[in-house]
Amino acid sequence: MTAPLISPSLLSADFARLGEEVRAIDAAGADWIHVDVMDGHFVPNLTIGPMVVKALRPHTAKPFDVHLMISPVDAYVEAFAAAGADIITVHPEAGPHVHRTVQLIRSLGKKAGISLNPATPAKMLDYLIDDIDLVLVMSVNPGFGGQSFIASQLRKIEAVRKMIDKSGRDIRLEVDGGVDRATAPQCVAAGADVLVAGTATFRGGAEHYAANIAALKGQG
Ligand code: DX5
Ligand code: ZN
Repeated sequence: MTAPLISPSLLSADFARLGEEVRAIDAAGADWIHVDVMDGHFVPNLTIGPMVVKALRPHTAKPFDVHLMISPVDAYVEAFAAAGADIITVHPEAGPHVHRTVQLIRSLGKKAGISLNPATPAKMLDYLIDDIDLVLVMSVNPGFGGQSFIASQLRKIEAVRKMIDKSGRDIRLEVDGGVDRATAPQCVAAGADVLVAGTATFRGGAEHYAANIAALKGQG
């Protein structure tokens, strides 16, 4: 089986040393950098905005995988694009016209992702699949790191994998929440090719990041 890409979530990094943490995970083999943006409204937590993304941009050349958990979302898409996001992922519940949001992201030359909450069906993608670059299956309810993997989402990953293969398009299938060395192989077997991992990447401190990432890739 091909090793998945790993996108460490900065939510579990040391926020007082974010630039250093980004450089450390880059050196440790991270493929993308996952940035969780929360607004205290769409999800019950507050994190960071485009200014922090911009400040982190010079610290790595790896793609910034920006997960927007904010509503309404459209007004902020351009700011995240300008700050250096490469992939911008939104939730269909975060605005009245998600297809328009996808068009907006792509009009800015960025890759567009759609994130499905645990209760959001894969069917939501029926009329979006031809216009997106990534599907993010949430395997926890968004808002916090360190939660337990919701096993029912494996079925959704399988369903989304089938939809992607049927589309014949180059679309990444990413999983986010509770991904660790036990659940990672299950996600990959179900069809995921990108794994987000916060707790499982940053556990143990910087000297463990490379081994943690290798383990998530199934190379540990
Ligand atoms: C949750 C975020 C995740 C989270 C993952 O709302 O979208 O990216 O940080 O954290 P872990 O890997 O600790 O479950
Ligand atoms: Zn996330």
